[in-house]
Amino acid sequence: MSILDNNKGLKAEVDKVAEVAGLLWAKGWAERNGGNITVNVTEYVNDAMRALPAICGARPIGKTLPHLKGCWFYCKGTGKRMRDLARRPMENGSIIRITDDCAHYEIVADAPVAPTSELPSHLAVHDYLLAKGSQYRASLHTHPIELVALTHSRKWIEKDVATRMLWSMIPETKAFCPRGLGMVPYMMPSSVELADATIRTLDEDYDVVMWEKHGVFAVDTDIMDAFDQVDVLNKAAQIYIAARGMGFEPEGMSDAQLKEMSEAFGLPK
Ligand code: 13P
Ligand code: ZN
Repeated sequence: MSILDNNKGLKAEVDKVAEVAGLLWAKGWAERNGGNITVNVTEYVNDAMRALPAICGARPIGKTLPHLKGCWFYCKGTGKRMRDLARRPMENGSIIRITDDCAHYEIVADAPVAPTSELPSHLAVHDYLLAKGSQYRASLHTHPIELVALTHSRKWIEKDVATRMLWSMIPETKAFCPRGLGMVPYMMPSSVELADATIRTLDEDYDVVMWEKHGVFAVDTDIMDAFDQVDVLNKAAQIYIAARGMGFEPEGMSDAQLKEMSEAFGLPK
């Protein structure tokens, strides 16, 4: 028995998370328990589910998030491995609902799996997305090797320097990550400060932000789309590194070629 039984829509969302978790492991971005995923699944919650009792007491989020009133989320469990979640999503993650004070959550799931330690960032971002009327429902934090490596250099963490380089490696990068890569300076993982800085940077009009010397945080309509944005960026970083490994600085597409892409595809930047 699972709370996903008789709820095809919710099961499909959780299955998509499991598929992405497997991809993250295959990419080498999910060592041990690295990375986390949350998805706002409120639209799939039916009356039968709303009637279910919580399987743990209310726990504090660490922030009050008024737009999350009545919201439900699938969350990777803290300390859980993506490669395990890929096969058993309800043993390595759980579904939570936000309590009416908007400052606590309860677990309503198959097992009392405590949600990710990055819950403050994830939930604050979902609150921000709902407040601005966004259709985005998924957020992904992962540790992509080449993108993280870039942030160990002052040069690449200057605003939009990495974005310009990554976009110029291959036309698809700008087409499929059209807002580029925001930069968040190093902060303690799972802290409320990191959550606040993530929102400030997303609000500068990015869908993907780097957490310096740690990982990326990406948002999109669903978890597969969030993964794709990170994947195209990391591919571009790999092309840059491949060229450097061949002994030269890659030329990159010109400003005129990048502008042509924006005009042809109606891109936001
Ligand atoms: P969790 O296992 O708590 O999700 O943490 C993984 C991580 O990447 C923290 O930044
Ligand atoms: Zn992390």
